[in-house]
Amino acid sequence: MSDLVAEYQRQFEWRDWRAILAALPPLRGKTVLDLGCGAGDISLELAAQGALVLGFDSNEELLACARSREIPNTQFGTADLRTDVDFGLTADGIWCSFTAAFLIDLQSAVTRWARSLKPGGWIALTEIDDLFGHEPLASATKARLKAYCEAGLAAGRYDFWCGRKLSSHLERAGFSISKCQTIPDRELSFNGPAEAEVLEAWRARFLRMRVLQDYLAADFTSVVDEFLGCLERADHRSEARVFFCLAMKPPTSTIANV
Ligand SMILES: C[S@@+](CC[C@H](N)C(=O)[O-])C[C@H]1O[C@@H](n2cnc3c(N)ncnc32)[C@H](O)[C@@H]1O
Repeated sequence: MSDLVAEYQRQFEWRDWRAILAALPPLRGKTVLDLGCGAGDISLELAAQGALVLGFDSNEELLACARSREIPNTQFGTADLRTDVDFGLTADGIWCSFTAAFLIDLQSAVTRWARSLKPGGWIALTEIDDLFGHEPLASATKARLKAYCEAGLAAGRYDFWCGRKLSSHLERAGFSISKCQTIPDRELSFNGPAEAEVLEAWRARFLRMRVLQDYLAADFTSVVDEFLGCLERADHRSEARVFFCLAMKPPTSTIANV
């Protein structure tokens, strides 16, 4: 198993998937697209609840892992979610977790995805907002991290403020919002000192963030040390939030073609 697959599987434990999955309409016998499926962890959960799941991702290594698990009632395919529109069927539901922030023009993406959704079908988006929003950090460190996030957005790599925008993107794309809430998360959004394993996962995340390493250059180690020190503190608190939004495609769709 690759490091990335192992890391995603470790992260799985820290998300409140139970609460999120419980909010979905009944899945038995339904067809669900899992967009940005990674190694298929959520596809497995959706299929276990009776859905036929088609997972799509752009990372071939993660897709190979997903296929190798031979999860009943799942299939996995390659797609670039920024551009691809034809998933080869019309689904009852669309699931997309921790992937929306990679799609800078999310409104256009969800508008295109809606064409692969039956009238009255649902879309469930989950995404982090303000990943580095943890306190207390020195104001200079916060300013460096904010500048990095702004550069990432300007370069079209990642929207660090995507979570708070989910509902407005969905509404502007013509969906009707059923539910939008924040979800506790033992790794991304919690107060008090991080568990040792969570701290290790954050260290691993920073080591994977090559663009951040280049951006911070000689200051990378000191910024990471300060950040990890912040997560360990008794008075640590998260401004970072995990957002979950469930929305419906109108029975008679007014969603525009993009
Ligand atoms: C953080 S992982 C989330 C995996 C899984 N959905 C979960 O919630 O655990 C983000 C996934 O999005 C995929 N991804 C990012 N940009 C993509 C794109 N443009 N097209 C397709 N997949 C993309 C990555 O390969 C990765 O598998």
